Amino acid sequence: MSDVRSSRIEGLHKMTPEARLQAVAQQANLGNEAIASLSAAAEGQIELADRLVENAITSMAIPVGIATNMIVDGREMVVPMATEESSVVAAVCNSAKRCRPTGGFRTSSSGPVMAAQIQLLGASDPENVRLKVYERMDEIRAICDETDPLLLKFGGGFRDLDIRVLETDEGPMTIVHIIVDTRDAMGANAVNSMAEALAPKLVEWTGARSLLRILTNLADRRVVRARAVWPLDQIGGEQVRDDMLSAYHFADADPYRAATHNKGIMNGVSAVVLATGNDTRAIEAGAHAFAAKDGHYRSMSRWEADSDGNLVGILEMPMAVGLIGGATKVHPTAQANLAVLGVKTADELARIIVSVGLAQNFGAMRALATTGIQKGHMALHAQNVALAIGAVGAEIDQVASELKALGKVRQDLAEEILARLRGGK
Ligand code: MEV
Repeated sequence: MSDVRSSRIEGLHKMTPEARLQAVAQQANLGNEAIASLSAAAEGQIELADRLVENAITSMAIPVGIATNMIVDGREMVVPMATEESSVVAAVCNSAKRCRPTGGFRTSSSGPVMAAQIQLLGASDPENVRLKVYERMDEIRAICDETDPLLLKFGGGFRDLDIRVLETDEGPMTIVHIIVDTRDAMGANAVNSMAEALAPKLVEWTGARSLLRILTNLADRRVVRARAVWPLDQIGGEQVRDDMLSAYHFADADPYRAATHNKGIMNGVSAVVLATGNDTRAIEAGAHAFAAKDGHYRSMSRWEADSDGNLVGILEMPMAVGLIGGATKVHPTAQANLAVLGVKTADELARIIVSVGLAQNFGAMRALATTGIQKGHMALHAQNVALAIGAVGAEIDQVASELKALGKVRQDLAEEILARLRGGK
């Protein structure tokens, strides 16, 4: 049970972040140590946090590590990754290094095209509504483009309509997709504004009622592909390659395994998405929906051996990221991370992210098909356990290395080691 006295905190949103913290601390019976941690984390960050979210009391730092060795479309690059998970950055460095002899990652992209959905209900003839809306294409283009003249100026804007009659448990509905080139924006604001501006007109033209007006995160017109070839000698030979292929076939056939295999891909993808201030949830929702597009949930990546026996990996997934708008534009760390990447367009960023996802997948499959992942994890895990039991300074490495030597990373053993070190024995 929580210690919170009541979840009602009158006027919290009107308080300063400092006053909010005090109010929450009181309500949740926080001790001085917890209050001090929250205020320390707020330092230098709270003004931005307060602008980004409601009821901000502090900010939470996520480590940013750099993935080295990446070559994407012939360009050498270092990639900032924001993640709290150990081994994720190291896996990309290692996997990217192993495909350097064949030139790294090659990518292609369908361009920055997003869609919003408008749900039309209550029409006596939904198929007729569908046709009526298609007939208004020119007016629809004008309404959409008028809502975002800046987008138009940068070469984006309305591109097409896709209208479906959807059979549902409450009968058929007409679903209008407006398809928009959002250039360097992620595009949620642009397409949502267009959908909201257009809906009343659709009602006027068709007599149907409009309900939801919102983008789809299944951004299947904004797909990016990355491909890389890992030479046999960089993999560890034919047996390792074949075992990696068996690991892939397992994931492709079994949703239980696919969820974990794809989670590994998202370890890389989400880390770069977050480091650049983009929306991790949007990318994750789109990625998993796309992985189920054949009617069952599959591996997001494809793997095969080429005629020379090398391992070829392909990752194709929606990648709706932007360089303008949202946290990307206002978060100084996101801006600095974009400077590290040196990208000029959202499309370039999307290609790097998918390449990192593929590298991550190679690393996980290779580790799983050989030594297993615990060996690599254990070194860092041992350090985390040492930290968790209160080891400081040189004690951290000492406790961690003794745990590793024992081959057992356990809290009780770590406590014994620390007690012995502190007892001077
Ligand atoms: C751990 O965060 C990710 C892996 O489980 C991915 C995989 O199983 O492929 C290692």
